[in-house]
Amino acid sequence: MIGFGVCVTTGMMGRDFRHLILLAVPAGAAFAMLAAFGHVSVNIAIVGALFAFGGLYLAARRIKSEMDAVAEADARVDESLREEFVRQARLAESYEVILDSLPEPLLVLRADRHILHANKAVVDLLGTDPIDADLTTAIRHPDILSAAAAVLSGESEEETVEFSRAGAVEQHLVARLAVLPSSREIGRAAVLTLHDVTSERRTVQMRADFVANVSHELRTPLATLVGFIETLRGAARDDPEALDKFLPIMDEEGSRMAGLVQDLLSLSRIEANEHSPPSENARLQDILPVVARTLEREAEKKGVVVIVEADPEAPAVFGDRHQLMQVFQNLIHNAVKYGREQSEVRVVIDGWDREYLTASVIDQGEGIPPEHIPRLTERFYRVDKARSRAMGGTGLGLAIVKHIVNRHQGRLWIESRLGVGSRFSISLPVVVDAGDEMATESQDPATAS
Ligand SMILES: Nc1ncnc2c1ncn2[C@@H]1O[C@H](COP(=O)(O)OP(=O)(O)OP(=O)(O)O)[C@@H](O)[C@H]1O
Ligand SMILES: [Mg+2]
Repeated sequence: MIGFGVCVTTGMMGRDFRHLILLAVPAGAAFAMLAAFGHVSVNIAIVGALFAFGGLYLAARRIKSEMDAVAEADARVDESLREEFVRQARLAESYEVILDSLPEPLLVLRADRHILHANKAVVDLLGTDPIDADLTTAIRHPDILSAAAAVLSGESEEETVEFSRAGAVEQHLVARLAVLPSSREIGRAAVLTLHDVTSERRTVQMRADFVANVSHELRTPLATLVGFIETLRGAARDDPEALDKFLPIMDEEGSRMAGLVQDLLSLSRIEANEHSPPSENARLQDILPVVARTLEREAEKKGVVVIVEADPEAPAVFGDRHQLMQVFQNLIHNAVKYGREQSEVRVVIDGWDREYLTASVIDQGEGIPPEHIPRLTERFYRVDKARSRAMGGTGLGLAIVKHIVNRHQGRLWIESRLGVGSRFSISLPVVVDAGDEMATESQDPATAS
């Protein structure tokens, strides 16, 4: 019996403890019954039962340790799942940060054309976050919608569409759609990126316009000159009256061409060194009266008076004297040209602080309609082309002013009221000399105390 109990206990323990439980409980019960019916002595029954229950005890311990091991393994799986989840969440977060830091708008589309992700550039472009909405809430262009349909349906892997977007300023965009590897969760998806090509298109257009403008500006006086030369060679060969009439016009047209070439050359020279600001000093209180004097004759012809109000105490600015003279020459010339007859042109140093000095040229002309103001500094841009040309203008004066001011790291702004007049203001960086610094510091109560 004992041998049987030991056998059962040890033999089964090493294999499957569930069998052990199944055997130990009936074995214990059998011994108890045998003892009860007197088949075995009570002592043997007790020893047998003890072995049986000993086996049961060991089996229970074994079960417990197996369960502990399972619980431990479960905890390890839970922990690694949690770590994986955190890692995935971090990865998703960093993808979001990466996508948001892209300057180009980017959308991720689901198969049903809804937006799964929109980066910050998209939100900036649209003014709202189109996430979860249909693509049409972001872009309605029919070509984009059909390209999206082609990519999302699997008909095409990649599509490129160029389109324009109306707004305060028309935008030219290139949209690229590419299929994304499909996943179990979201199925087929596509990425849509937008590339803004407005400035490239504008540059190309401006270059073409520039060549067309230069050719046009030169062709007109050239045609006049050629025409007069032919006349003087032919029909008016011996006509002194015609000569007197034509020669001044030829002179004017020749000067206009020379002026245009001169302006173009100075514009390209200024542009060439636009990125190296001048290091020399200039005093506007010295420059402004000189420029005003050079335009006196022109002003007198229209009965215009040019008044200069320049405080001799004004600080010097960082500036190329010759270029600053050209700036005020162009501005005062415009003020006289576009001012009313018998009116006043004021050239004023408005004020200064420790950083900038501001000066303005103020006229009493007809004013400039507001829609033209942002474009006045474009080359060849004129509000009234015919009138400007009749006055001998080429439309380059303000473009030159803008580039010189840019080179001086200054600012140009234009204010105008129709029927009242215009004000062209310029601010330029001030030269703070050591003496001024000390004087300012000693006046500062904080430093004085
Ligand atoms: N003070 C002003 N009042 C009204 N319109 C102005 C004034 N200054 C400039 N404009 C407008 O801006 C346009 C561009 O001026 P800009 O000086 O560049 O060219 P322009 O005077 O026509 O020719 P240019 O200066 O080359 O001889 C002018 O044609 C004119 O329509
Ligand atoms: Mg001008």
